[in-house]
Amino acid sequence: MENYNLSTELKPNQDVVLYEGHNHKVVYLGTRGINTGAEAVDVLSYLIIDEGEALLIDPGGYHLFSYLVFKISKYVNLDSIKYIYFCHQDPDVCGSLPMWKDVCPQAKIVIGELWVRFLPHFGVEDVSKRAMPIPFKGGYINVGKTPIEVIPAHYLHSPNHFSLYDPVSKFLFSGDLGIALGEFNYLIVKDWVEHLEYIYTPHRILMANNRAARAWVNRVKNKDIKAILPQHGAIMVDRDVKNYLKFMENLKCGTDLIKD
Ligand SMILES: [Fe+2]
Ligand SMILES: [Fe+2]
Repeated sequence: MENYNLSTELKPNQDVVLYEGHNHKVVYLGTRGINTGAEAVDVLSYLIIDEGEALLIDPGGYHLFSYLVFKISKYVNLDSIKYIYFCHQDPDVCGSLPMWKDVCPQAKIVIGELWVRFLPHFGVEDVSKRAMPIPFKGGYINVGKTPIEVIPAHYLHSPNHFSLYDPVSKFLFSGDLGIALGEFNYLIVKDWVEHLEYIYTPHRILMANNRAARAWVNRVKNKDIKAILPQHGAIMVDRDVKNYLKFMENLKCGTDLIKD
């Protein structure tokens, strides 16, 4: 028995179980619009739980730490967090890393191999013990009985950036890909044309170029994807997964826009 909750009525500032199946759960942690202040970039953080083991995805900045401890504790003990994953090195992803490494001493810090050398700057002293570097070509993170696939998404926007694919929920956690910024108050995209207004400008500015975008689309397009869950903005479900892949395929951005 499996169950999706991807209603367009879901609120961005409320935690919710988005998928529940046999010993497998995906939780959105209700982080959008919380404690960020007017200038800060809102983030979406997630938790995958399989057979009682948890993977925390993109815990976000300093301000979110205590809120997330409270939210996660509704679903699992902090001792059950086996991995804390950071899709890339930015502060809106890693700002809370110094606190997480202390409250979850058992958890591996999972981050692209290029960024492992930055970990001492976050107070991680025993890097070789604590870090699980992701090779450039990607790989797998085994959570409980489920291998979560790590898919390269380099230069979109970070030069060492990844997406995660959960084969049980069929969710693609896309990191900064799918970023949407602006005054909207939904968690699940309702109207693609309206949503384009919020994703177009950040993609044009942040993403390196169309070549990088197409390389990522080619890696994910043949997967069975129920929803794309970005680190900013809103979740794209079913038909909007296709809409987003098409958008990326055709996007002119970053260095494409440089005029000589
Ligand atoms: Fe970023
Ligand atoms: Fe980000």
